[in-house]
Amino acid sequence: MKPIIKTAAQVEKIRRAGEINTMVLDAVDAMIREGISTEDINRTVHQKTLELGGVPAPLNFEGFPKSVCTSVNDIVCHGIPSEDVILADGDIINVDVTTIVDGYYADASRMYCIGSVSPEARKLVDVTKECLELSLKAVHPGGYLNEIGAIIQEHAEKNGFSVVPDICGHGVGLDFHESPLVFHIKRRGRGPKLEPGMIFTIEPMINSGESDWFIDEDDGWTVWTEDGSLSAQWEYTVLVTENGYEILAK
Ligand code: MF3
Ligand code: CO
Ligand code: CO
Repeated sequence: MKPIIKTAAQVEKIRRAGEINTMVLDAVDAMIREGISTEDINRTVHQKTLELGGVPAPLNFEGFPKSVCTSVNDIVCHGIPSEDVILADGDIINVDVTTIVDGYYADASRMYCIGSVSPEARKLVDVTKECLELSLKAVHPGGYLNEIGAIIQEHAEKNGFSVVPDICGHGVGLDFHESPLVFHIKRRGRGPKLEPGMIFTIEPMINSGESDWFIDEDDGWTVWTEDGSLSAQWEYTVLVTENGYEILAK
């Protein structure tokens, strides 16, 4: 399936969704700390999103029960907020926020280090963000989509980490998940050529151990690392512009 090219009017709407998504994540920045529950994060995201005129996209998406994903330590992604999960000194957590504004979507996530984390955890969080930032240099008209994953994999593996190969970024804007898939590993072939007006996420999941994962049988959502090693993720929504890229949500 070919990537969707957005019109200028659609880009304007998705940019606005991105601004509100960023404000919601900023509200998480302001409240996250040791001793709170991931349900507290869910409440903040839910209330702040409504206050800003948005709708939290995860709530009831394919049956997901909460307004945000909160993925602690060895959870790769899609962690479900709970009163029973209390943030403790040394935890790392990904908070993944997706907001619908006026029918348009933006999607981004950030990592947080709670208290003093181990040097290994800190390095994982930092290297994962570097992977995402470095990959942005592949985002420009005339570039190729699969260059993104090649950059991410090289930087992760150079630092002794592994990339989750089979959970991808995605087109976003008119819907939560659209064409194209954005791989975070090197693939055969160059993939689609990038053109102005494409909007997609880049959201590498990087593990401190092996890249294997499994889905929790009890809740049907939580993605855990197979070996119990730590996992980190950062996510931006990016627009391909005439000159390069614009980050619409981070
Ligand atoms: N925000 C996630 C992504 O980056 C998707 C979460 S789906 C949910 O694509 F249902 F778990 F919210
Ligand atoms: Co996404
Ligand atoms: Co997301």
